[in-house]
Amino acid sequence: MNQDQLKQMVGEAARDEVLKLAPGQVLGIGTGSTANCFIDALAPHKDHFSGTVSSSNFTTERLLKHGFKVLNPNDVAGLPAYVDGADEIDPAGHMIKGGGGALTREKIIASMANQFICICDSSKQVPVLGHFALPVEIIPLAQGVVTRELEKFGGRVSLRLAKAAQEPFVTDNGAWILDVAGLKISDPKSMESQINQIAGVITVGLFAKEKANILLVSNVAGVERVIF
Ligand code: 5RP
Repeated sequence: MNQDQLKQMVGEAARDEVLKLAPGQVLGIGTGSTANCFIDALAPHKDHFSGTVSSSNFTTERLLKHGFKVLNPNDVAGLPAYVDGADEIDPAGHMIKGGGGALTREKIIASMANQFICICDSSKQVPVLGHFALPVEIIPLAQGVVTRELEKFGGRVSLRLAKAAQEPFVTDNGAWILDVAGLKISDPKSMESQINQIAGVITVGLFAKEKANILLVSNVAGVERVIF
């Protein structure tokens, strides 16, 4: 079984999970290849929900193509659940996210939801976060000062570049991303709040406050459901 099949399997498990929610509510939907599998699996059941809120322009495009209703988060009071992938998840449900660059909107929508349902294959499970470079979305003019502050945590900081171009990757918010490699994040809550306090940081891709409540994780044996 390859990784695409594992993603598809967990996408289908997430579909079954959200169909247990009472109908007529709004669902939060994340970004990335695993979230895409979930969207595709949920499409035939889209009428179970009155609408969705989306964490990125890519996801919005895919949802609209399938005929989902996509709502402005400002018009939605709360969400029963937010379903999204992760770049890494630790045994307590803390995550690194933002590999796809959508971390800020992902965190906003996660904060609106009663439950974060994380979906991934088992390659994303780690004992300690930090092998995957930590994304930090920043105001472009703060690149220099934020880089120096982030280096104090002991990692190697690099500006994310757009694919096939020597230009900065620009997020849906018109901002840039610094990736911090080589960290060993033993206290994700503390690091999240310390990085959030650096002037010029929009969002750090550490999801400790907004950690997963449920993890659906696929491996060759099937999909495991973990509750945190
Ligand atoms: C995007 C994200 C994604 O959830 C994360 O990168 C996982 O993506 P994939 O499912 O493609 O491995 O945080 O900003």
